[in-house]
Amino acid sequence: MNDLEQLVQDAQAAFALALAPADLENAKARYLGKSGSLTEQLKALATLAPDEKKARGALINAAKQQVEAALTLRRQALADAELDAQLKAEALDVTLPGRQRGCGVLHPVSRTMERIEAIFGSMGFDVAEGPEIETDWYSFTALNNPENHPARSMQDTFYVDMKDAEGRWLNLRPHTSPMQVRYARAHAEKHRGCDPMPEIRVIAPGRTYRVDSDATHSPMFHQCEGLWIGENVSFKDLKVVFTDFFRNFFETDDLQLRFRPSFFPFTEPSAEVDIAFSSGPLKGRWLEVAGSGQVHPNVVRNYGLDPDRYIGFAFGMGPDRLTMLRYGVNDLRLFFDGDLRFLSQFK
Ligand code: PHE
Repeated sequence: MNDLEQLVQDAQAAFALALAPADLENAKARYLGKSGSLTEQLKALATLAPDEKKARGALINAAKQQVEAALTLRRQALADAELDAQLKAEALDVTLPGRQRGCGVLHPVSRTMERIEAIFGSMGFDVAEGPEIETDWYSFTALNNPENHPARSMQDTFYVDMKDAEGRWLNLRPHTSPMQVRYARAHAEKHRGCDPMPEIRVIAPGRTYRVDSDATHSPMFHQCEGLWIGENVSFKDLKVVFTDFFRNFFETDDLQLRFRPSFFPFTEPSAEVDIAFSSGPLKGRWLEVAGSGQVHPNVVRNYGLDPDRYIGFAFGMGPDRLTMLRYGVNDLRLFFDGDLRFLSQFK
């Protein structure tokens, strides 16, 4: 093998060893660059005699063409490999199923809340929301439940070791009844000078808290307060409103109501409301669904109203319990575990 054949072979081997375009260009420089070995051969022609020059020149040119051909081939091979790798990396399997958009649904208790709001809304009740961190005054004192009175322990309240700006102790509201006072005071303020004052008709749904936990009690639960105050609102109206509400809510007239005497500091007289279905799986069982009563004069006074003139009723019901009854759920805690196997049944 002569020196030019050797050179061609070396160049081909060097190109084959180049695994990336940059390596290949370096290898090219060693043979075809300004001081590459083939270029040096061409420069050396100048020292030869004219007839040798021609023959040698032809040989060098032939070698150069071979080296250039090898370079072109290798360049193409590297470019192809690069494209191949890129295509592989970015490959799309168009046969894979698309990513579905998860579609959530309203929590069953939220559905109940919306239902309650819609039904009472249709009876002319406003919907109000209030703070879950409440002051002692709104949670108890204003509701005719004096400091140190044993009736305060009817509710195992979560007290917060903190006072508000006016020095009133804070608690996690144990019921939505503070909203009676908040709403009525704002209403009385707004209509000061109107005679008579437009009636108060409001419900106040929301979260409430008590130190309590078993299959039918959760430390966080829901209540919906109701209040109707006017010059001539009586227990009869409470009965009509409740009967209407429950028949609407459960979509059946096959349902009876019972008012059972009870005690709440803020109502007098007071009653627990029970319902019983006349058919279905719960047939004939009395189920407690709300507390209620005629608002106590001391509380009406705390609304900023004259109890000799304004009278009415309040009630507090448990939307969690209503949800359990409506959907046949037997453990309240299921609502708050966040288990999708349970929740997705409400789709
Ligand atoms: N707040 C009472 C409770 O939580 C329910 C109630 C509200 C009773 C309004 C009477 C009037 O048990």
